[in-house]
Amino acid sequence: MRANIAVLPGDGIGPEVTAEAQRVLEAVADRFGHEFTFREGLVGGAAIDATGSALPEETLALCRDCVAVLFGAVGGPRWDDPTAAVRPEQGLLAIRKGLGLYANLRPVTLNPVLADASTIKRETLEGTDLLVVRELTGGIYFGERGRRDGGQTAYDTMVYSVEEVERVVHTAFRLARGRKRHVTSVDKANVLECSRLWRETATRVAKEYPDVAFDHLLVDACAMHLIRRPATFDVIVTENMFGDILTDEASMLTGSMGMLPSASLGAGSMGLYEPIHGSAPDIAGQGIANPLAAILSAALLLRHSLALEQEARAVETAVDGALRAGYRTHDLAGQGEQALGTREMGEMIVRSVAEVS
Ligand code: IPM
Ligand code: MG
Repeated sequence: MRANIAVLPGDGIGPEVTAEAQRVLEAVADRFGHEFTFREGLVGGAAIDATGSALPEETLALCRDCVAVLFGAVGGPRWDDPTAAVRPEQGLLAIRKGLGLYANLRPVTLNPVLADASTIKRETLEGTDLLVVRELTGGIYFGERGRRDGGQTAYDTMVYSVEEVERVVHTAFRLARGRKRHVTSVDKANVLECSRLWRETATRVAKEYPDVAFDHLLVDACAMHLIRRPATFDVIVTENMFGDILTDEASMLTGSMGMLPSASLGAGSMGLYEPIHGSAPDIAGQGIANPLAAILSAALLLRHSLALEQEARAVETAVDGALRAGYRTHDLAGQGEQALGTREMGEMIVRSVAEVS
């Protein structure tokens, strides 16, 4: 297969971890006989420095020309002035919106060999394998916002349409059919009108999937149950901001945020793939970041945008094998335990993919 893949490394550790993910995709292409062409673009702080915009026109055009986007991370102290008119995060939000990527898939699967790296007890974590489907192009992230009363009052608006809720809930149900067939819709319907619309709509969509169990949780209760009984969840579907918050929380179930990949999908096969961790400016440039979330995001790219399931599994198996063999990056290594650098861990996965028979 031939595929054009856009690579947007961004800021901080973004370039370091994305380079490893790209190398793994190159290894997949070699091993399985595909031809991937990588085209690099600017986004985030790097783009602001070069062009004044967090998402230059050329970058969006480049993405539209490709079948998938491999994305690093954006942001850093250099661009952190909260009063600045242009911020790196705008690049990410604009690209999600510009490409119509309304469903953000964040799988949270416990790798048993990492259970002790989590702050939560092993007994509680055992069997955790859940998927958060976060709505990504609506809600309070994209509603009207501003200041009034001479700047003394600020407002942000949450807005959802039936259509926006329907499409992402359908995505959640379709994915649940390939998993444990259980969807939990999360909202704040006891307070918010958007959540009441969300609940009504999700309930209606659920009737089309009688083979999938369905329930609702309020977001505050969900936050609690996620760390109380994580293994009982299968697919969680929720609006943009709730999904943002719950997935940072859920990431701690796996021991390290450095392990979690994500896929952002729209109506077609185009997708954007990024680790859920940020740009980690505190460790940027040191070659010690964990590249596994970026590499696992590349696996999701193979699966969701290119429909290369066998290749996706090969990457996931390689990651699993490295962890089982005891290899750890700095974020996962215990006191006094030896840790691999970003490049070394990447190399480990590249070699193991090359050897797949
Ligand atoms: C995420 C991030 C982004 C978000 C930020 C960087 C805008 O936290 O992808 O979870 O809030 O969506
Ligand atoms: Mg977030």
